[in-house]
Amino acid sequence: MKLAYDLSFTHTEGRWAAPGSWVGTSYPDHRMFTELAVSAERAGVDMLFFGDGVGIPDTWKGSLDAAVRWGIQWPRQDMSPVIAAMAQHTSHIGFGLTYSSTYLHPFYVARLMNSLDHVTGGRIALNVVASGRLSDAANYGFDALLPHGERYELMEEFVDVCRQLWASVEPDVIVADRTTGQYGDPAKVHPIHHRGKHFAVRGPLPSVPSPQGRPVLVQAGSSPRGIAASAAFADVVFGVGGHREWQLRHRAALDHELVAAGRDPAEVGILWAVQLIVAATAEEAQRQRAAMLDQLSLEGIGTYLSYNCGFDFSRLPESFVLGEVQEQIEAAQASQAGFVSQLVDRMGADARISRAEFFDEGWRHATGYDQTIAGTAEQVADELQEQHEATGARGGFMVTNPGSMPGALDQVSGLLVPELQRRGLRPDGYTEDTLAGTLLGRPLR
Ligand SMILES: Cc1cc2nc3c(=O)[nH]c(=O)nc-3n(C[C@H](O)[C@H](O)[C@H](O)COP(=O)(O)O)c2cc1C
Repeated sequence: MKLAYDLSFTHTEGRWAAPGSWVGTSYPDHRMFTELAVSAERAGVDMLFFGDGVGIPDTWKGSLDAAVRWGIQWPRQDMSPVIAAMAQHTSHIGFGLTYSSTYLHPFYVARLMNSLDHVTGGRIALNVVASGRLSDAANYGFDALLPHGERYELMEEFVDVCRQLWASVEPDVIVADRTTGQYGDPAKVHPIHHRGKHFAVRGPLPSVPSPQGRPVLVQAGSSPRGIAASAAFADVVFGVGGHREWQLRHRAALDHELVAAGRDPAEVGILWAVQLIVAATAEEAQRQRAAMLDQLSLEGIGTYLSYNCGFDFSRLPESFVLGEVQEQIEAAQASQAGFVSQLVDRMGADARISRAEFFDEGWRHATGYDQTIAGTAEQVADELQEQHEATGARGGFMVTNPGSMPGALDQVSGLLVPELQRRGLRPDGYTEDTLAGTLLGRPLR
């Protein structure tokens, strides 16, 4: 069972003030993260993961004020320098970093990831996202989203260019002959001459190959087109966890697409997002879970949900049909896998729901209350083991949105991980030097 910690939101959505959160230091002090990395490595965690987005939530009432006021997915730094810092204090844990294939240039990202693979000693992963939010788009010169399918077409070309660039220099390119003074071997350096629909890149990368050759590739799209993109290139997939039917459908769709792409489904795991509260007693875990409901204001909830779905829920009428809102979200080319889709799955597209009911459901979703598995180490391990086996025992879990940082994650490391180890689900330590070795059990191709 693979285990990663998602550190995308260590301080936002009220976590900065939750019991168990850092005191006397505040985001983005990199020392908070180096400490976290050291303690996660002590627990043998496979990877620390950073999602990203460059917009400030501004879907709610068309303004970013509420996001700033309540700290909803704001502020966010580019975490690449922080990963470089964490790597200097650790030796085995891997790091996943997110960049957008819709707005960034593959040459820039390929070169940056090559350098990060060097500085981490072969422990970097790239999570490629298609970016489904207008506030991201606005920072790169767009006032509308590209069609959903086109974003994935772009993503596949983006990754293709990156992979060509990572392979454009052969491992033994450095000669470093002090007698002749010859430094490199030009026969080992190959321009790629890529001319595609979206990118034109001559190459080669002006760098030397990194320990893994390329980063481990992660992808999180969960629409049919997003899953096809995962099958095209992902080494590991990040999936929406917690809803068994949804998970089984995702796993089956991914397996189908992998076979169609000529790949072995046994090789591509899904890390299911999972929110956990682990405590010494079941009562204490449930008490902490209930306290999550008080972590956000009503305006904060609206801001969070509106941004995640790409729809301004401040405009909802007193009552409405779920499927109609879902259609509007899809027509806006925003995410098809958000909170509304989950409600539709549960209640049906024809269900009529009042505004108050919607926000009540949304409250439990946005605070993480609904998705959180809370219990003792034994109870949480039982649940994870059952989920793992029922979804094909490939991949594992991404512990996401912990209620407090570092408190909630320290409980996972200190209580849950030893229980998983006792059951033989987690190794006692690292046996591999690279992230590909640790996470995939094989070198990258
Ligand atoms: C578990 C999970 C994590 C994600 N993390 C990010 C992220 O950090 N940044 C981002 O821009 N999108 C993120 N996404 C969004 C996806 O990359 C994708 O753009 C979104 O799910 C819409 O595509 P889809 O319709 O194919 O699902 C995430 C999605 C999932 C399911």
